[in-house]
Amino acid sequence: ATVLQVTQQAVRHYKGQRGNLLPILHAVQHALGYIPASAVPELAKALQLSRAEIHGVISFYAHFRDQPAGKVVLEICRAESCQAMGGEQLAQHAEQTLGCGFHATTADGRVTLEPVYCLGLCAQSPAIMVNGQPHARMTPSKLDRLLAAQGA
Ligand code: FES
Repeated sequence: ATVLQVTQQAVRHYKGQRGNLLPILHAVQHALGYIPASAVPELAKALQLSRAEIHGVISFYAHFRDQPAGKVVLEICRAESCQAMGGEQLAQHAEQTLGCGFHATTADGRVTLEPVYCLGLCAQSPAIMVNGQPHARMTPSKLDRLLAAQGA
């Protein structure tokens, strides 16, 4: 589907509901993987908001991306239990080896690094997700192997 089709469909789905900008943005990102700049004028028109208001919401919530994600989305748990069990070193290792920070994508588009806050795997901390698949008891070297196996 095109950006226009996806945007119009999301708007139709939540039409007339108060506070529908967030669910609409979620729906667009879910369908396209990000919220393209070209969706913004359409949303502004349909919701009678200014483009600046919509840009403001997209940039306020770290969850929304205005660029496509990398081939691999790596989410590292940054909640308490994982932090206490080596999650911090893991996060630093990821930032160093990827050369990008959290909420960012490597320059070559291979990997997007995101934080998550508890994956329900605290007993097997530290935990991560790779393209939606959870992995527990993670170490820097296991992470390297996992990313290599994903071609990242
Ligand atoms: Fe990381 Fe619960 S704190 S999985």
